[in-house]
Amino acid sequence: MVCQDPVRRSLLLTALAAGAYLAGKPAAAEEDQPGSDERPQKGDFLVHSEGEHADEIIKPSDLTLGGPPVHAWPKDPQSSVIRKGSRLNEIVLLRLDPGELDEQSRSRSADGIVAYSVVCTHAGCPVSEWVKAAETDKKILKCPCHNSEFNPRESAQVVFGPAPRRLAVLPLAIAEGSLTVAAPFVGKVGAQQAG
Ligand code: FES
Repeated sequence: MVCQDPVRRSLLLTALAAGAYLAGKPAAAEEDQPGSDERPQKGDFLVHSEGEHADEIIKPSDLTLGGPPVHAWPKDPQSSVIRKGSRLNEIVLLRLDPGELDEQSRSRSADGIVAYSVVCTHAGCPVSEWVKAAETDKKILKCPCHNSEFNPRESAQVVFGPAPRRLAVLPLAIAEGSLTVAAPFVGKVGAQQAG
């Protein structure tokens, strides 16, 4: 039956609209949870940041030798908060042949897996590509915004383009079969403008 009272009808419609809005909203935005914007900390797990396995804990076997890279967020093992409240926390993971890594990269890797900040040091775009380098046959991490290239075998040193410095490195470990953070970022995260 249609409600004939215009005031009551309008109130009903407003309530229905509010209900629909709330139903489409997460109960509590994860970005607002305490610790979600804190940088990765020792002991954090890593979870997929995209794709069908988003928010699931990453195991070394989830990564294919030689790429493609996997993007991740750190996750606090105590509170279970995923630290996705700051884009400066997103990480790119790659599994490489440990024999290809230089000594420092190897010392910060776990089972050949290396981790870097995904935020380009030039102007802060995501370093989203895994392609053949301009100068060699090897694949490198590339930022498509202005074509900066970073060598993941050498602590993500800049090998091409305008980026002023390497990507921040996130030392890794393996605990109980899962990838974990061994220490905070080494190096400044992101571009000057990204803070
Ligand atoms: S923002 Fe990455 S090369 Fe400019």
